Amino acid sequence: MRISVIGCGYLGAVHASAMAELGHDVIGIDVDARKIAALQAGRPPFYEPGLPEILKSATASGRLRFSTDIADAAGAEVHFVAVGTPQAADTSAADISYVDAAFRGLLPHLAEGSLIVGKSTVPVGTAARLAALLAAAAPQASLAWNPEFLREGFAVKDTLEPDRLVYGVSADDDGRAASVLDHVYRAAIEAGTPRIVTDYATSELVKAAANAFLATKISFINAMSEIADVTGADVTALADAIGHDVRIGRRFLNAGVGFGGGCLPKDIRAFTARAEELGRGDAVAFLKEVDTINLRQRQRVVDLAVAALGGSVHRKKIAVLGVTFKPESDDVRDSPALDVAVLLKGLGADVVATDPQGVENARERHPQLEYATAARDALAGAELVVLVTEWREYRSLDPADVGRLVASRRIIDGRNVLDPSVWRAAGWEYRGLGRP
Ligand code: UGA
Repeated sequence: MRISVIGCGYLGAVHASAMAELGHDVIGIDVDARKIAALQAGRPPFYEPGLPEILKSATASGRLRFSTDIADAAGAEVHFVAVGTPQAADTSAADISYVDAAFRGLLPHLAEGSLIVGKSTVPVGTAARLAALLAAAAPQASLAWNPEFLREGFAVKDTLEPDRLVYGVSADDDGRAASVLDHVYRAAIEAGTPRIVTDYATSELVKAAANAFLATKISFINAMSEIADVTGADVTALADAIGHDVRIGRRFLNAGVGFGGGCLPKDIRAFTARAEELGRGDAVAFLKEVDTINLRQRQRVVDLAVAALGGSVHRKKIAVLGVTFKPESDDVRDSPALDVAVLLKGLGADVVATDPQGVENARERHPQLEYATAARDALAGAELVVLVTEWREYRSLDPADVGRLVASRRIIDGRNVLDPSVWRAAGWEYRGLGRP
């Protein structure tokens, strides 16, 4: 099929490349000329495992092109809208101005029978509003909403082999939107991927509910870790034990510095704001607590650092391992790791932060911090080590080797990924979150 993808960020660039990989003829559009130039040259503008390979092969095949001019989307049968919906500058609601702009931009270029497919995460009610706009301004085209569930770090796999497909379609759709999308996702459909065809509002809510549930799960276990801390219990063993109950499940029960990134934090805030607009704020008021618990984790790590250094971090060299919000990503948006580094710096510590992929993005946001690209440079002479992003490189550190680099053997495991007994046996003072 001829496909356009509007917005080439973490979502759109992967989606465009994956669609071309599946054999479609794809044009990716973005207003950022630098991003488009890099993509056109086969270079992803961010780190995502597997993306360079499919981007290169798809651009070389001629099935994938990029442009800054939305007029180049004309002629596509399907237009995916994959622009960002960040948190608004002055409220906790989502800023959907980029979605609106993409729509307005597409209107003059919609061919007869073409389908616009929203992928961006939007407040419930957005699709119905845009469908009404479309019916008035470009009745030859129609709209479906197809939320995206990809995880950064696994984005290529999640796009090529999604765990479910959700299509939100208009009440008067005669099955055409679903059949077009089935065609787009033929490989996944043939592989038996569950597919749910529903109305616009449900499809928008599926996305909000999924991220709200994941965030709640993480904050739940982090709340347990606070109770574990004051009782001497071990939150990791607790998570293992409750996780054996298949109704609960072990995944997303890792206590630590908490969730961050461009999705979970802003999505729960936007969901709360939208529910309040709808007069049902009470129904999701618990999400405010989920957010509060999550943000408290960052402070807990800072408090542990202060305690580990005897009450003050002032002028003490601290190696912060990790700045990205999770491993296998260079994304530092709302990153708990970077926040911890900034908070420690604010308390007067000599922070040296390091990360296998995130240093450049972190430096752009927080140039006041000192960075090292190699972990050993950050570790050299440190009086405290704080692990806040669980990159494999950090999980597999050897306590004896690291012990020879640092000035004092003190470590805070902000992701509960190290074996305390191994580190203690090597002479380290070890502290985790909710671990004795
Ligand atoms: C999340 C969802 O998992 C995706 O399904 C969704 O498509 C995406 O948001 C989105 O809305 O676009 P992502 O932001 O890539 O994906 O990251 P996650 O893997 O969900 O991790 C989010 C945060 O939770 C990370 O900071 C991670 O370190 C933290 N986390 C995760 C924990 O603190 N504990 C856990 O047990 C699991």
